[in-house]
Amino acid sequence: MNAIQINNLSFFYENENKTCVLNNINLSIKKRDFAGIIGATGSGKTTFALCLNGLIPNSINGIFSGTVKIKGISTKKARIAELSKTIGLVFQDPDSQLFALTVFDEVLFGPENLGLDKNEIEKRANNALKMTGIYDLKNRETHSLSDGQKQKVCIASILAMDPEILVLDEPTAKLDYKSTKEIYEILRALNKKGKTIILIEHKVEWLYNYANRIIVMNNSNFELDGKPNEIFKKSSYLKSIGLEVPQSMKLKEKIKKLERKISQMTKGDLLD
Ligand SMILES: Nc1ncnc2c1ncn2[C@@H]1O[C@H](COP(=O)(O)OP(=O)(O)OP(=O)(O)O)[C@@H](O)[C@H]1O
Ligand SMILES: [Mg+2]
Repeated sequence: MNAIQINNLSFFYENENKTCVLNNINLSIKKRDFAGIIGATGSGKTTFALCLNGLIPNSINGIFSGTVKIKGISTKKARIAELSKTIGLVFQDPDSQLFALTVFDEVLFGPENLGLDKNEIEKRANNALKMTGIYDLKNRETHSLSDGQKQKVCIASILAMDPEILVLDEPTAKLDYKSTKEIYEILRALNKKGKTIILIEHKVEWLYNYANRIIVMNNSNFELDGKPNEIFKKSSYLKSIGLEVPQSMKLKEKIKKLERKISQMTKGDLLD
């Protein structure tokens, strides 16, 4: 069974224009995929993420059709709390996710709702805080944190629930290089342990180095889906929809070209 199976998913927000944000999407995500979703600003990535954890259609108004199944369970039929045991979403906007007074309460909330015993709840929360490097912020009030620190609390609170599928919507947008690397390394380690990762991201360089699948959103659908090497080769297409190609991939291509030239020159010398 696929971790996620999406069939004919369409979604319109109910504003005066009835914007069609997702138009007949079909997608399968396998267990252990580490998929990066890229797309221009406003292309529908966050809307798609909200369909994965069931907020659409269960809490957010709009016109929804098709099916989204998380490990075989339709999001339309399941309760959001039930789905959150299997799929955890780190929101793009930390302020939409954070609600508790202190960091520790925030990170405790998820495991508390899984019905675990007190020791296990605290162990999970402390581990998640340590993993994300914010253990020292444990007793701080969330509203007093910097944007980057809030982002780490959001990640920690999802990690503490230990869901099988993690969806992260630009989780490192406010983080520096060191923290970004730490988060990517955590995701890689979790993926190796069997977790399915879906990462919505504008930082293509990171995706190129960590994801094993890249999905491109454009025109309300996923227009490309493949291995990072194959997708990022399509530089003219990506440019035409406002996306960039990873610098390290460009550099690798240049080195390959140079090597070919040198080898041709050397062959020419030998023939002379
Ligand atoms: N609650 C809402 N009501 C009406 N329209 C919305 C709502 N949320 C998003 N939209 C519209 O839906 C479209 C897709 O928005 P979405 O936030 O999913 O894009 P995105 O790809 O995540 O963009 P970004 O890269 O900026 O995060 C945009 O045109 C946006 O204005
Ligand atoms: Mg978004």
